[in-house]
Amino acid sequence: MALVYLGEEMADELKVFTGNTHPALAQSICDYLDTPLGKIEVFEFSNENIFVRILENVRGRDVFILQPISSPVNKSLMELLIMIDAAKRASAERVTAVIPYYGYARTDKKDQPRVPITARLVADLITVAGASRVLTLDLHAGQIQGFFNIPVDELTALYILSRYFEEKQLDDLVVVATDIGISKRARDMAARLNTPLAIIEKRRLGNTTEAEMLTVIGDVEGRHALLVDDEIDTGGSISSAALTLLEHGAKEIYACCTHAVLSGPAVKRIANSPLKEVVVTDSIPVPESKKTDSITVLSLAALIGEAIHRIHNDLSIGAMFQ
Ligand code: R5P
Repeated sequence: MALVYLGEEMADELKVFTGNTHPALAQSICDYLDTPLGKIEVFEFSNENIFVRILENVRGRDVFILQPISSPVNKSLMELLIMIDAAKRASAERVTAVIPYYGYARTDKKDQPRVPITARLVADLITVAGASRVLTLDLHAGQIQGFFNIPVDELTALYILSRYFEEKQLDDLVVVATDIGISKRARDMAARLNTPLAIIEKRRLGNTTEAEMLTVIGDVEGRHALLVDDEIDTGGSISSAALTLLEHGAKEIYACCTHAVLSGPAVKRIANSPLKEVVVTDSIPVPESKKTDSITVLSLAALIGEAIHRIHNDLSIGAMFQ
């Protein structure tokens, strides 16, 4: 039998695949990279078992699998793990799990008796599935990087969000951390925007999602305020923080965060709060039904696309932020 050269791509070509959670972001990243989105089937059988088939050759390729671990969280995670397994078994040279939103990140320590550290469990699952490295964004706690024994590159949306507010040129702006835990990131935002920093002291009540505002550390009276958080889940923290700032005399109140979980009552709470605008990224898909006038979604496609390009070509990721 004569062997025929079929004109396939070079083995060093990168390939990007995605599951069902955020195909729009994967497509925008591929547009940035000027490469077609990889062909793959990811579907559920009637018995709820997820099945994956990669529909093109990945032997020896540098494969990137994009999937935020967002709603439906457990299905997103399972799809991600099975896609990694499929790529590894198809002899991909290297598999990078691209996880714009790392779900379960808030369960990152054993702070009560008999509780799990699920963020660590998820890291183990991703590693055992066959990922060679991870590319992620604004982890709830940076230490989660250390839950992996494979390289982790953590990007930040800080520059995308700060540029947006720089362009607004709000006078007398103060950056406000929604709680003490986020104060370091809020300080970085304040440094970028050259503004003072204030912090809201918040105490959570047990395991419930309800939070109690206590006090504002810093001066917000008569100023534009920009609340900073890593994620908005039920919108409870951000809307009560906005109310507290209003009570302390803030002028107009804005908020920004990387991850728009926007579960349950979040959109309604934002709409009913004194927040003028909430700026988020597309690390998690924001459905049309949740895109109200006061919610602005900024794209991460260029940031993640550039990081993929750099990982593929062994270039520095750190240099992107200098
Ligand atoms: C908590 O530690 C996080 O930084 C956020 O403040 C939290 O996830 C926001 O949750 P929610 O919107 O439900 O108040």
